[in-house]
Amino acid sequence: MDHFLYRDGALYAEDVPISEIAAAVGTPFYVYSTATLLRHFKLFDDALEGTEHLVCYAMKAASNQAILKTLAQAGAGMDVVSAGEYLRAKAAGVPGDKIVFSGVGKTADEIRTALTGGIRQFNVESEPEMEVINAVALELGVIAPITVRVNPDVDAKTHAKIATGKSENKFGIPIARASEVYARAASLPGLEVIGIDVHIGSQLTELEPFEMAYTKVAELAERLRSEGHNIRRLDLGGGLGIPYTRSNDAPPLPVEYGALIKKTLGHLGCEIEIEPGRLIAGNAGLMVSKVIYVKSGEDRDFLILDGAMNDLIRPAMYEAHHDIVAVNEPMPGVEQRPYDIVGPVCESGDTFAKERNMPPLEAGDLIAFRSAGAYGAVMSSEYNTRPLIPEVLVNGDQFAVIRERPSFDEIINRDTIPSWL
Ligand code: LLP
Repeated sequence: MDHFLYRDGALYAEDVPISEIAAAVGTPFYVYSTATLLRHFKLFDDALEGTEHLVCYAMKAASNQAILKTLAQAGAGMDVVSAGEYLRAKAAGVPGDKIVFSGVGKTADEIRTALTGGIRQFNVESEPEMEVINAVALELGVIAPITVRVNPDVDAKTHAKIATGKSENKFGIPIARASEVYARAASLPGLEVIGIDVHIGSQLTELEPFEMAYTKVAELAERLRSEGHNIRRLDLGGGLGIPYTRSNDAPPLPVEYGALIKKTLGHLGCEIEIEPGRLIAGNAGLMVSKVIYVKSGEDRDFLILDGAMNDLIRPAMYEAHHDIVAVNEPMPGVEQRPYDIVGPVCESGDTFAKERNMPPLEAGDLIAFRSAGAYGAVMSSEYNTRPLIPEVLVNGDQFAVIRERPSFDEIINRDTIPSWL
């Protein structure tokens, strides 16, 4: 459920007409709904009620500080994967003891940044990384709290580019080697082993892979405890999928996911951390774009938009489906027709949808990409020297620009010309 609904024939974000935002900021732009962000955070928080837990929002999904602040004020921690994300979370007011540091290759500088500013834990991804965290901690005279990310070798049954829990993937250490790696961790004086971390992939639409992974984690926790490790925190990653179409897909709900966590891991009495990103931000954001031309091709019509693959890369990169709706609600019974919906960039990959049924549209009409709140703005680029598009946050009947569209001068002046030219 989200708060982007039609009222009197026009699409609204909460109590603000999308067309009003478009008039104020120009198109294309991203718009997020505060009520939807909070609702999704609360679904997870409630799902783990009765268990000591922290929902650490995976801020890679949408990292604008206004979004971080909205969630942090509701009690969220953050899952970060770079020094940049760490500093951004801190800038948004998130305390270090609510920030977990994930990511496959943390550099010594990144580790230093987090240890200096305060960190809840590092999720260690490899033995060499563990040695570097130890060395940096010793250099700073602190102890780094760690979990080790284990790779449970389960099939997450999701798109290959976002599956992470198979042994062939680059993530974590093989679960079979965990005893050895934990023994080494325990011997390093700069580290304190506090738990286990696992994350098997993103956009999971079934619970079964989670169940397989968490069952393996439960067995591992008992084994590591019997080997003398004080396993008291389990970080279970993110990955619960969202419905990308309004009609036919219905991934499991956070409450079912929470029940599974309690069932598979509850008996251990550990503090639980989860790192959802997509489910919190995905359906809390739209990308709004304008039709600039309607072009009749040989066998189809094209809607050419002012938004492009650089603004929303998911269709080009993952063949992802986003529902696309007209901002002016189509009249009941209006006949839809198939369009190829494309951006203006000169490559065929700049196609958002093929033969998508839409009401008849004309140049100047606004359309909205649903489910664009996660992995939308954060993955955008300035390809073709197209400025990053603005982000807007709505809260009830108010809205604010939370990232401005840069001017062409700002973009162009970032280049520096060497002295020999
Ligand atoms: N924790 C870790 C360690 C992760 O690697 C990820 C996502 C998450 C949490 C959050 O997963 P979520 O709840 O959002 O599924 N750009 C891709 C998705 C990449 C996900 C990467 N890792 C997309 O647009 O589909």
